[in-house]
Amino acid sequence: MKKKTVQDIEVKGKKVLVRVDFNVPLDVNTGAISNDSRIQASLPTIKYLVDHRAKIILCSHLGRPKGTIVEELRMAPIAQRLSQLIGLPVSEAQDCVGQEVEGKIKMLKEGNILFLENVRFHWEEEANDPHFAQELAKLADIYVNDAFSAAHRAHASTVGVAKCLPTVAGFLMEKELEAMGRLLNTPKRPFACVVGGAKVSDKIGLIQNMLKKVDFLLVGGGMAATFLKAQGYEVGHSLVEKDKLSLAQDLLQEAEEWNVPLLLPTDVLVAEEIKAGAKTLVVPTTDIPLNSNIVDIGPQTIELFCTKLRKCHTIMWNGPLGIYEIPQFAQGTRSMANFLSTINATTVIGGGSSAEIVQEMDLAGKMTHVSTGGGASLRFLEGTALPGVEVLPDKE
Ligand code: 3PG
Repeated sequence: MKKKTVQDIEVKGKKVLVRVDFNVPLDVNTGAISNDSRIQASLPTIKYLVDHRAKIILCSHLGRPKGTIVEELRMAPIAQRLSQLIGLPVSEAQDCVGQEVEGKIKMLKEGNILFLENVRFHWEEEANDPHFAQELAKLADIYVNDAFSAAHRAHASTVGVAKCLPTVAGFLMEKELEAMGRLLNTPKRPFACVVGGAKVSDKIGLIQNMLKKVDFLLVGGGMAATFLKAQGYEVGHSLVEKDKLSLAQDLLQEAEEWNVPLLLPTDVLVAEEIKAGAKTLVVPTTDIPLNSNIVDIGPQTIELFCTKLRKCHTIMWNGPLGIYEIPQFAQGTRSMANFLSTINATTVIGGGSSAEIVQEMDLAGKMTHVSTGGGASLRFLEGTALPGVEVLPDKE
């Protein structure tokens, strides 16, 4: 069921509290914003509200300050970046509730934007404290949730406040729900899922749910070692989640029961040391040296995966296929990103590091959809209801 959006409600002259997720990565040394795609992704909602003469009050969290004020996690640099991107002044508040904020809101004219301070400076946010939710609600006439990537959190600014005000979804929330929902419910077939990442334990729910949806599943990344070990292969020093071996066997079994081919790498890049400049070797998965670590999928596997995917009309990718942070071990991941950017199919990048990779490679514009969600996308693709979505009213 589609959710009501900003287009379904009169916003002119109204005070509109917009929950965005501008929890953007910051450079560890300088504190500068290293990727502003989440800010860019909410621009359509903010622009719409500006054009329709609403008084806009933006609210977000940044990092995990756990209810205390952390200077490095103030929203000011984010507000400034937004101002540059949207080409309009964005005023800032020193807090997200209270008299100072209320005073600033009184001064807002139609089309003006006020950015509240980090909502997680208050412990009540993560506790979804009803009084705090009321304090937030008191600021506005309407609540808009555009924070898909925070929708797996049942917090005051994502769930509590929605129960106190007329509530609608923003355009980013709508776009994410449509793209990800279509993937789960009405994908054009054949539909394949490429799953990577370090650990099987992070992706159990995703694989289980996807096995019921896809025509085949391709597995790479660190987690492939646990699957290979479960199949009886020697994987050297590669990280194997020993307590997940039987689960990996169950998943392989489930794939068979669902009649879904689950493809593992047939060759891998190995290195004795996991560091830049390490000596590497391509070996078949049947012949992994005892003293080595799997650091990437091999060229034969890349070819195999691409050949399978060429037949597909829909592809979802979640998780790097090797230790992509080290350029030498990033070939598999980069090849997948390049391949997906050229194929004539619906391509959905299921958030997290895969999204960062396609953005870094400047390929995001060539994909059908790049999710802004990390944890939220994973939960959604696992088939778990997201509290921040559940609370949004459906279209009539
Ligand atoms: C994210 O980056 O995934 C969201 O902003 C949620 O952040 P959190 O994991 O700190 O709740």
